[in-house]
Amino acid sequence: MATNSPTVNPGLDGIVAAQTRLSSVDGQAGELIIAGFPVEELASKATFEEVVYLLWNDRLPNAQELADFNAALVAQRPLPQVTLVLLYAAAAHKVDVMDALRMATSSISLRAPNSKAEQDLRPDALTLVARMPTMVAAYWRMLHGQEPLPPRPDLGHAANFLYMLFGEEPDPERTRGLETYLNAVVDHGMNASTFTARVIISTQSDIISAVAGAIGALKGPLHGGAPGPALDMVFEIGEPSRAESYLRAKLERDERLMGFGHRIYKVRDPRADVLSAAAERFFRTSGDLALYELARHVEQTAVRLLAEYKPGRRLDTNVEFYTALLLHGLGLPAELFTPTFAISRVVGWTAHCFEQQALNRIIRPQSEYIGPKDRRWVPLEQR
Ligand code: ACO
Repeated sequence: MATNSPTVNPGLDGIVAAQTRLSSVDGQAGELIIAGFPVEELASKATFEEVVYLLWNDRLPNAQELADFNAALVAQRPLPQVTLVLLYAAAAHKVDVMDALRMATSSISLRAPNSKAEQDLRPDALTLVARMPTMVAAYWRMLHGQEPLPPRPDLGHAANFLYMLFGEEPDPERTRGLETYLNAVVDHGMNASTFTARVIISTQSDIISAVAGAIGALKGPLHGGAPGPALDMVFEIGEPSRAESYLRAKLERDERLMGFGHRIYKVRDPRADVLSAAAERFFRTSGDLALYELARHVEQTAVRLLAEYKPGRRLDTNVEFYTALLLHGLGLPAELFTPTFAISRVVGWTAHCFEQQALNRIIRPQSEYIGPKDRRWVPLEQR
């Protein structure tokens, strides 16, 4: 028996790579705590700016601190010409929104060399959080042949994003719906994109590089790219009476039901509760309540059938199911679901970068070599 071969953990499953004060995910209890607050309490009450302040300072701001912080964010919202030029070039190639966002984010480095940015991460973090909604909204309008709209300093972060996308000041229900979503997904333990950001900062690199890397990690369908298909499924079902036969047929074909199952949560994802309540509030006042009721019916039927077809697997509703419904209700096209996730999660990424920097040890795991060790060099002409 080999005694010195290391234990390999594919996917780093079960490895605890850092301590954090930012969020706690309990998959057995279905509990998510964000900087000390249950997600149910924080998501629907706080403004997004308060949540940013909380994650960056480990406490809520008072009124003056919040006003000063808002002003600092507002001042950073407009895009410099160089970022606009880059986004126009991306739009000419019809580049994916997440790729355009990654490139535009990197363009924040197009300024005088700033060696201090590697020590004091906060100024660039502020620019990243403030500018990402402007980048996404401007790019979306460029893709559709419309002029980008300059940010409105009198609107909050969420309302201004909707304004820059659609050219209309959103009503309070719409703003609250988006703000609840942004707050609910702001941080979620050591997920893949957060880990990416921490790895980059752990080398004493800069925070723009860390966030550009994290955007790349979030883009993949196994992480942030799943809500579109969950919504497609609800639309394909179309009416409650078709839900059972449609879902049964999928499970008979051994297909996955989008918006269900989670690596960590073995009960209903608590963010699904928060977003479902937000969706219900929104759809009751401003939206298509029949669509919300259809989604509820699809969810209940899916959970029942998953228990029947996959007994013991504990498959329940995940965050993506109601993300799709809520963001669709707010008027966002499916292509903007993942970029909107990034607009929120950049706050978690940057807060993790601050934590990583404060107690830094370079993140440098090992690998087990399984290749040969006895090869001998053969000159090119003899191969
Ligand atoms: N529909 C049907 N069966 C499922 C589903 C599902 N949504 N999810 C898991 N299963 C089944 C699998 O077929 C497997 O069954 P088997 O044991 O008979 O082979 C069993 O449950 C375990 O599945 P795994 O893939 O091993 O579970 P894992 O924890 O790795 O997967 C994942 C989690 C990827 C989210 C999975 O549940 C899935 O594919 N869900 C659908 C896609 C989705 O909603 N993704 C968004 C996730 S939320 C987020 O990432 C932010």
